[in-house]
Amino acid sequence: MNKITIVGAGRVGEATAQLVAIKELAREIVLIDIREGAAEGAALDIQESAALFHFDTSISGSTELTAMRDSDLVIITAGVPRKPGMSRSDVLGTNLAVLNDIIDQMIELASDAMLIMVTNPVDVLTYCAWRRCGWSKNRVLGLSGVLDAARMATFIALESGYANKDISAMVLGGHGDAMVPLPRYTCIKGIPIDHLLDEQTIQAIVERTRHGGAEILALKQTSSAYDAPAAAITEMVSAIVHDRRQILPCVAILDGEYGQADIAMGVPVVIGDAGVERVLQLHLSEQEARHFSDSADQVRADIDSLNLPA
Ligand code: LAC
Repeated sequence: MNKITIVGAGRVGEATAQLVAIKELAREIVLIDIREGAAEGAALDIQESAALFHFDTSISGSTELTAMRDSDLVIITAGVPRKPGMSRSDVLGTNLAVLNDIIDQMIELASDAMLIMVTNPVDVLTYCAWRRCGWSKNRVLGLSGVLDAARMATFIALESGYANKDISAMVLGGHGDAMVPLPRYTCIKGIPIDHLLDEQTIQAIVERTRHGGAEILALKQTSSAYDAPAAAITEMVSAIVHDRRQILPCVAILDGEYGQADIAMGVPVVIGDAGVERVLQLHLSEQEARHFSDSADQVRADIDSLNLPA
């Protein structure tokens, strides 16, 4: 990839730029932030790590959205983060206004790009971004399940004592408290987790996963999570850049899959250089399907509250 632009040089944006640079996933990374000096400072700081990490990627910062011109991929992390006690939906109004400006510039300046949404509430904002830009749905996706599944895998490793890298977890649904961790599609080295952990432990892991973001926020108080989110974004970028055809749970625009349409939700998708190649339709039990549909109801309630133009 030639050029990746990250809009929002907060902690998630900055940490993502560093990882994308270390992995040399683009020739050029541009960081944009409206706060004077924030993006320039972060970019220079990362650039100064090049000799130590041995990367050739060039990184620059700007306060101007026009700096995203001709990007191949735009990653949007800009917006206000939630504070302890707030839900991701509480920041919807503020973050939608920020998003609309960015999307309008993106349509003009980077009309062939792909978009990864990160700003919360990510399901709703991925949908809003897609509606506003009018791009084909394969080019618009959002961060959710890669992060949530990484958290679930970590909690399984902590509980079970097995190696984290042997654990493959699956989390669907909206990236909120109603997300749908799927123990039935989660294994340790191919062994379904219910062979290795008791039901009570699995339920505790499911609950902890649902509140994984809030747990970090409650501990740090003044910052949301950013290390694992940045690693999850980088995994998605790498799947696109290397055309890996990886199965990753991401926020995707649904068109009938899982009984949902005209909405964006976390589902397993195949990711390659065209973005979302397809949505994988997992067989869900009655209870899993009900949880998915409850999660969709929450996302849809937020979308409906916006009265978007038809
Ligand atoms: C979290 C934010 C990225 O889950 O929503 O930490």
